[in-house]
Amino acid sequence: MRIAVTGTGGRVGATLARHFSTDHEVVPLPRGLCDLANRESLARTLDQLDCDVFVNPAGVTSLEACEDDPTLAMRVNAEAPAEIAGWAASRGVPVFHFSTDYVFAGESPGLRGEGEITEPLSVYGRSKLAGERAVLAVPENCVVRISWVFGPEKLSFVDQVFDAALTGRTLAAVADKFALPTFTGDLAKWIDRLIALKTTGIVHACNSGEPVSWHGMAIAVVEEMVASGTVATLPEIQNQTLAEIAAFRAARPRFTAMDTRRLTEILGSPPRHWREALAEHVRYRGGGNFTRAVTGK
Ligand SMILES: NC(=O)c1ccc[n+]([C@@H]2O[C@H](COP(=O)([O-])OP(=O)(O)OC[C@H]3O[C@@H](n4cnc5c(N)ncnc54)[C@H](OP(=O)(O)O)[C@@H]3O)[C@@H](O)[C@H]2O)c1
Repeated sequence: MRIAVTGTGGRVGATLARHFSTDHEVVPLPRGLCDLANRESLARTLDQLDCDVFVNPAGVTSLEACEDDPTLAMRVNAEAPAEIAGWAASRGVPVFHFSTDYVFAGESPGLRGEGEITEPLSVYGRSKLAGERAVLAVPENCVVRISWVFGPEKLSFVDQVFDAALTGRTLAAVADKFALPTFTGDLAKWIDRLIALKTTGIVHACNSGEPVSWHGMAIAVVEEMVASGTVATLPEIQNQTLAEIAAFRAARPRFTAMDTRRLTEILGSPPRHWREALAEHVRYRGGGNFTRAVTGK
């Protein structure tokens, strides 16, 4: 299959492009070739594109960048996916588009199902929801919602904790916001399956387990570091609240753990527990495997 992948300089796009290249022909569409902010650039790319599947993880992913430039956020996260979906529909190409748990308001604990009411709190969430709707206007398309992504392709919160613990820096993490993380290594295999099965509609794609806060994730990272001998003793990790983080100008939902029953049915077995995936990533980092993670490129 020829699979076009946007955002190949990003965490998810880089992982998918690398994963797909084993069994498929990948057509990478990094920003330099296809700038989603620029309607003409996207139209030119689509005019020349020949692919069987279009995978779109590209997006403006910084919540604060979206608050600062809502026009750009809507252009890249909503209008460009709409144009991709229109092009793909005219050629019978299915689109696998990536979205977020931040489409939910997340006001109470519990697992959010695919059908649950969406009520984004931020420009980012609203632009991603508009992108979802545009892509799903074509029934052959699939929207994959993911959350708190970590993996070897690009540094994430998990790696910040790892590096801080390794160098003895003070650790603090938000303890009043809960979700379920997504490990890119697992995600790539799930997307393979969704493509093979021609899955349509919305799929929640995160690891399983109990919803966890960033503080809980940070504790798990350092526990795995101790277990794998990367550090000798457990460092203390201070509790923070969302409200204390001055850099967070955009509102963030507090309870967005996603229900993975649909993913489980599709895969035939549940996604593995986030703690198991995290342990694999920490062992990988502990083995000095760092090069790919530095810039994400
Ligand atoms: N990371 C998470 O925790 C998370 C959680 C929930 C949902 N998601 C969703 O998952 C998807 C992938 O996220 P990610 O973690 O891979 O994000 P990422 O590492 O920030 O990558 C985003 C990619 O989008 C590209 N991009 C941004 N603006 C563009 C433009 N104007 N034209 C073309 N490409 C553009 C970036 O290009 P450059 O490489 O040139 O910067 C980058 O490659 C996104 O749709 C995001 O909304 C992510």
